Amino acid sequence: MIISVASAKGGVGKTTIAANLGVVLNKRGARVLLVDADLSSGNLTLHMGGKSTSRSLHALLSTEGGPSEDEVRETVSLSLGVPLLPVSPSLRGYLKSKLDLLPTVLTPLKDDYDIILVDTPPGINKNSIIPLRESDRVLLVTTPDPVSVSDVANTKEVVILLERSIVGVVVNRVKKGKLFGSKQLRTAEIEGILKVKALGVIPEDKSVEAAVVAKRPVTIYKPRSAVSKAFDALARKLVEELR
Ligand SMILES: Nc1ncnc2c1ncn2[C@@H]1O[C@H](COP(=O)(O)OP(=O)(O)OP(=O)(O)O)[C@@H](O)[C@H]1O
Ligand SMILES: [Mg+2]
Repeated sequence: MIISVASAKGGVGKTTIAANLGVVLNKRGARVLLVDADLSSGNLTLHMGGKSTSRSLHALLSTEGGPSEDEVRETVSLSLGVPLLPVSPSLRGYLKSKLDLLPTVLTPLKDDYDIILVDTPPGINKNSIIPLRESDRVLLVTTPDPVSVSDVANTKEVVILLERSIVGVVVNRVKKGKLFGSKQLRTAEIEGILKVKALGVIPEDKSVEAAVVAKRPVTIYKPRSAVSKAFDALARKLVEELR
């Protein structure tokens, strides 16, 4: 099953959520593959240790007529113990790649994995729409502010137009306590606006940033922290929802 992690607004935590879900699902014994489909940034590849590799999704997507199944499988690399289709840091590689070929990469892998988790670029454009079109389910991501929620509502509309199905929304960077003057929406309000169930609420936590610097997702960097427990709960909920 292919699940895209998506939001029209940039910087809300798609890559962070894809990386940590990959780690936690893998730890729970699921056959999970991470796909870094944000071809120009390669942020997921960086989150997963940023190992430089000659094989990358760029190369697969630059192969005339699409890559062979062997080429696809040989490009999957174990990153921090999790299978990953990485991108190279090369912008030249990005410019040569044709995202239209994504189905030729994903289709041969569908039977090898229980969950193929695709990190997508922000915006509503060809590069963000192609991964959505190839997905069985879409996991929306938002922060609890009105602009982010309004943008993710647009992503939801695109998913509906593509006749794909939404699995739920993750509310990320939620601040605790009474926040005077804050416009932070409550999770129930976000569910009401989007008419989508919240599968997880991830707190704002400085260790997420520190983990990125340490080149490992926070669920590896600080596995017992509250934020890591929130990722664990999200993974459990996601698996329940997919049953
Ligand atoms: N729960 C959190 N607590 C604190 N910082 C966070 C949290 N989630 C994400 N961040 C930080 O927010 C920034 C953006 O996160 P991330 O790159 O995952 O977003 P994104 O939606 O993938 O962005 P883009 O749209 O550019 O791909 C990163 O610096 C990340 O460390
Ligand atoms: Mg990202």
